[in-house]
Amino acid sequence: MKVANGVLLRAATGEDLQGVVEVGRRTWPATYAPIAGKDYVAMGLAKWWTADATVPAIRAGRVTVAEFDDEIIGMTSVGPLDGHLALWKLYVLPEYQGGGVGGMLLRAAIAKAKADGYDELRLSYLDGNDSARGFYEHYGFVETGRESSGSGVPDSVWLKLTLEDGTHG
Ligand SMILES: CC(C)(COP(=O)(O)OP(=O)(O)OC[C@H]1O[C@@H](n2cnc3c(N)ncnc32)[C@H](O)[C@@H]1OP(=O)(O)O)[C@@H](O)C(=O)NCCC(=O)NCCS
Repeated sequence: MKVANGVLLRAATGEDLQGVVEVGRRTWPATYAPIAGKDYVAMGLAKWWTADATVPAIRAGRVTVAEFDDEIIGMTSVGPLDGHLALWKLYVLPEYQGGGVGGMLLRAAIAKAKADGYDELRLSYLDGNDSARGFYEHYGFVETGRESSGSGVPDSVWLKLTLEDGTHG
């Protein structure tokens, strides 16, 4: 759905907790069940899409939401990693994918990382998530390595984007 004109990006607040968690609950099964299985989806939702896992990131100002028509339709979550910035989460509700919202969220994360002085933005996607890889390559990300997750789960593929003018060490 093309909605980019009416989409507001803003830092998440405590009141967005339910909406943020809902993005995970509605996006993960469609994204990961086909490539990693239902158990992986259940594990990820229980580990990374709970209040306990989300509230600290919101409080730290690391979660950005995309709001449309009073609904949270996408989100990002970032955090420091080895002196660089990691994009830990970038998800858009299935019915809004392909409408420009993910690009808005990624461009905003890149701009904020640059403004904060980071030299690299890093992220990983699950091997087999080819649409995510294509999306990130579209923005210039390149592969830096792979990490086995064990027990039949596809590898995590790490990508990075070098940010110009970064001074963070
Ligand atoms: C991946 C995801 C965040 C992308 O967001 P989106 O809203 O669907 O993407 P957009 O419509 O904003 O696309 C932005 C740009 O990327 C391009 N793009 C998107 N997917 C692409 C692909 N697979 N290959 C090449 N280019 C792609 C679009 O053509 C668009 O280009 P333009 O701005 O020059 O027109 C979203 O589809 C999603 O949430 N997917 C499921 C969850 C997921 O895989 N998240 C990433 C986890 S690592």
